[in-house]
Amino acid sequence: MNSQAVLVDTHVHYNDPGFAHDLETVRERARQAGVAAAVCVGYDVPSSRRAVMLAGQYPDVYAAVGVHPHDAAGMTPRAWEGLRLLAGSDRVVALGEIGLDFYRDLSPRDLQRQVFWQQLQMAHELQIPVVIHDRDAHAETMATLKEFPGLSGVVVHCFSGDRRMAEECLGRGYYLGIDGPLTYPKNRDLAEIARAVPLDRLLLETDCPYLSPQPWRGKRNEPAYLQAVAERLAELRGLTKAEVASATTANAIRFFSITL
Ligand code: NI
Repeated sequence: MNSQAVLVDTHVHYNDPGFAHDLETVRERARQAGVAAAVCVGYDVPSSRRAVMLAGQYPDVYAAVGVHPHDAAGMTPRAWEGLRLLAGSDRVVALGEIGLDFYRDLSPRDLQRQVFWQQLQMAHELQIPVVIHDRDAHAETMATLKEFPGLSGVVVHCFSGDRRMAEECLGRGYYLGIDGPLTYPKNRDLAEIARAVPLDRLLLETDCPYLSPQPWRGKRNEPAYLQAVAERLAELRGLTKAEVASATTANAIRFFSITL
């Protein structure tokens, strides 16, 4: 038996070129650190295809397919066709990451809105959950999601809203994705939210290769480091890491309908 608490990393980018050369070792370190499974999230059509391939290859990997707001401008009719095909593939457990990014504005906002909306519609038709990317677009993201009350599940990935937005999310039955920034000493608002919300609505994620927790901040992130996020959450809530792990792992299994 692994003495460490078993976790699921609900948001990884194994499909990122940053993992092209050592994914086997990264997965091995994840396994040794007690991270039993990971959801590999797409950000455009080629990366979604890679996510589906990796999920087909490795039993500990599931896939989410979707087009990130940064890449909204690249959506051609052919890309839409490709995405729809991928969304129906085996081991695809969600549509994501999709949403709005008004911080970097890498695609025009009108296109971001259109691509987000169409993907929400697709998720609704397919009855699969969505993984939401929202950066500096809280009000509009929430307003758009409100138009889709019949989605089978919503997680606001790397939650960066305030207490009020968190409450709104919880009221609607959404989940909050908690990442490395929880370990940053200055992130008091997020710490406050993570301490207060019901434990059965939190999903742990690394968003690797981005957003490394302390003490790996600035280095490439990987799922093995998810233990640091679980540890911080346990500390904030006055629980043991095992309690946090068993609750958040149950959340991941329920939300994505996966098996370990
Ligand atoms: Ni991501």
